Amino acid sequence: MNYPMTVPKAELHCHIEGAASPSLVLRQAEKYQVDVSSIINGNGKYVWSDFTSFLQAYDLASSVFKTPADYALLSESYFRMLAAEGAIYGEVFISPDHAQAAGLSYRSYVEGLAAGIEQAKEGTGIEGRMIAIGVRHFGAASVERVAKEVVGNPHPLVTGFGLAGDEREGHPANFAKAFRIAGEAGLGLTAHAGEFGGPDSIVAALEFLRVKRIGHGVRAIEDKDLVRRLVDERIVLEVCPGSNTSLGVYSILRFHPVNLLRRAGVRITLNSDDPPFFHTTLGKEYSSVAETFGWSTADQVEVTRTAIEAAFCDDGTKQRLLVRLESADVQ
Ligand code: ADE
Ligand code: ZN
Repeated sequence: MNYPMTVPKAELHCHIEGAASPSLVLRQAEKYQVDVSSIINGNGKYVWSDFTSFLQAYDLASSVFKTPADYALLSESYFRMLAAEGAIYGEVFISPDHAQAAGLSYRSYVEGLAAGIEQAKEGTGIEGRMIAIGVRHFGAASVERVAKEVVGNPHPLVTGFGLAGDEREGHPANFAKAFRIAGEAGLGLTAHAGEFGGPDSIVAALEFLRVKRIGHGVRAIEDKDLVRRLVDERIVLEVCPGSNTSLGVYSILRFHPVNLLRRAGVRITLNSDDPPFFHTTLGKEYSSVAETFGWSTADQVEVTRTAIEAAFCDDGTKQRLLVRLESADVQ
């Protein structure tokens, strides 16, 4: 007997260092004799109290990945886990600054991560790509250096460039040059905006960084002209509801604007951001949003279709993924 399968999923917004499970970080910490007791409690869960301390916990967790093999282990475990939840495609943000802080060159970092992604693909069929990010609170020079490094060392699985970090620091205009360098090299562009910043932050990212995707972007709901603009320009939002409720952007999922944005015609994808830090997974994001807002299976398939259409991968790969999606026996 054939059982209907779970909705095929696709993810566009997950930070690979933020996807490391506490148990993996504990094992790595033991290997390198790093004290991580300030960020992992006795129950094996990450602890942090606000966005600033979350970013600090993320930095410490990243510091226990130091070699290409460490990163291969990290990406392979994450992509296998995604595939087990029904994902057919995933893009992960990679942070050359964090690799450099751990003593690893950009090339070795990317090669390690790519090896893990390939292994997971061989075992499960999941497709993966990487988006290199600059960290906003490290400043414009640092973000520009990342853009140059990425463009100077092309890799077939690094297909995008983005901006993450503390949105409360630095105007997007400061990062325009980095985005121009990355865009001219053919990389897909995305930037975190409208998470801790309001609508103006999103408008500035659109104007100065020329992005077609926005990380989060949910605070667009505070400005109806901006919502209209997102619809008209077919901007895709990488929405991360569990991250937003965990970090207190919205108090509970019912008050999250993802449903209103979708009903207004904005193109929406669902994502897990830094899953174990926010006690979530991509599968939980799909199911909790579907349950809270009454999204049907067809609605969830549409979310995946939007993600594939907006993915930073070649057209042939998109076509194959769309065929997998449309031929899935979901009910
Ligand atoms: N880096 C990792 N997670 C992030 C988030 N939610 N916002 C901004 N930068 C991040
Ligand atoms: Zn993010």
